[in-house]
Amino acid sequence: MNNWNHNHILDLSKFSLEDYNTVLELTTRFKDVHKSSSRKLPALQGRLIANLFFEPSTRTRTSFELAAKRLSADVQNFSVSASSLSKGETPLDTILTYISMGADILVIRHESTNVPAELANYVDRNNINTSILNAGDGFHSHPSQGLLDLFTLATFFAPNKPSTNSLTNKKITIVGDILHSRVARSNLWALTACGADVTLCGPPTLLPEEFIDFVQNPPPGQRFDPINKRGSVFIERSLKEALKNSDAVMTLRLQKERMKKHIISDLDSYYSQYGLTHQSLKWCEKKVPVLHPGPVNRGIEISSELVEDNSINLISKQVENGIPIRMALLYLLGLNKNN
Ligand code: CP
Repeated sequence: MNNWNHNHILDLSKFSLEDYNTVLELTTRFKDVHKSSSRKLPALQGRLIANLFFEPSTRTRTSFELAAKRLSADVQNFSVSASSLSKGETPLDTILTYISMGADILVIRHESTNVPAELANYVDRNNINTSILNAGDGFHSHPSQGLLDLFTLATFFAPNKPSTNSLTNKKITIVGDILHSRVARSNLWALTACGADVTLCGPPTLLPEEFIDFVQNPPPGQRFDPINKRGSVFIERSLKEALKNSDAVMTLRLQKERMKKHIISDLDSYYSQYGLTHQSLKWCEKKVPVLHPGPVNRGIEISSELVEDNSINLISKQVENGIPIRMALLYLLGLNKNN
């Protein structure tokens, strides 16, 4: 924790193994707090956390709010429909209003890629001591989801001591709409950092070949990759082949709201080719856990029966783990606000 040096959390491309393990260890501790009778810690007492969601959310917004309250922070939730945006105020002026009110951490979700990064540049340029925590921007990044998925998998493979080592040499398959998914991108950074090999599976319209190189180069503007040796990324168009030898499978929602054109002509045919069902899971050759970040479209990317089968899917565990993960992230960003 002494070496934590992120003032903002915008994506996972700059995370080192030490950063991941710091988050996993803290999350394990906060999970115990979340389950204890008091449920609260005074860690962020007096700090102001603003949840600014310019795009709809159920899980992320609620769990950030709960996480902040568990750490005794004051929380302000912003809702687009009840805000002065309808009177012509720009999102930037809305955000600056919360900074003027003394927000220590701004949790931001926005449909446009890079809004959180631009805001982080703005506060740094102006020496404002407010941290930006990206809660999902466009296709780009959803770091808290990537981390809660990592924690959920690490806990599945090593229940007593989840760490980055728990994922080393595991084969994780991610199926579906990779192109429009910030969750897939954050998972690619996190899983390969831990030495897992990731197989991406989907049709070419939702999974372009370029994804094979996604984690091979630092993103634009970043000079180096803090991870010495990442796991490999593979692309497999056939679900049957992709599931062979998998240790875990993640399926993703078809993000119709982000599709510029109608790139899936027939949902029934998509479901028959890429839908996860008890039947298709037999191709894994052993019992493996199924993850889905939610919200779920039953009968499109996953069967209703599988959504309701808690002996296989980890969906409710992902939601549950979202609270201690977000406690850990708020705690780490709040540390330098206590001086
Ligand atoms: N997984 C996720 O980001 O869900 P919400 O859109 O409900 O926050």
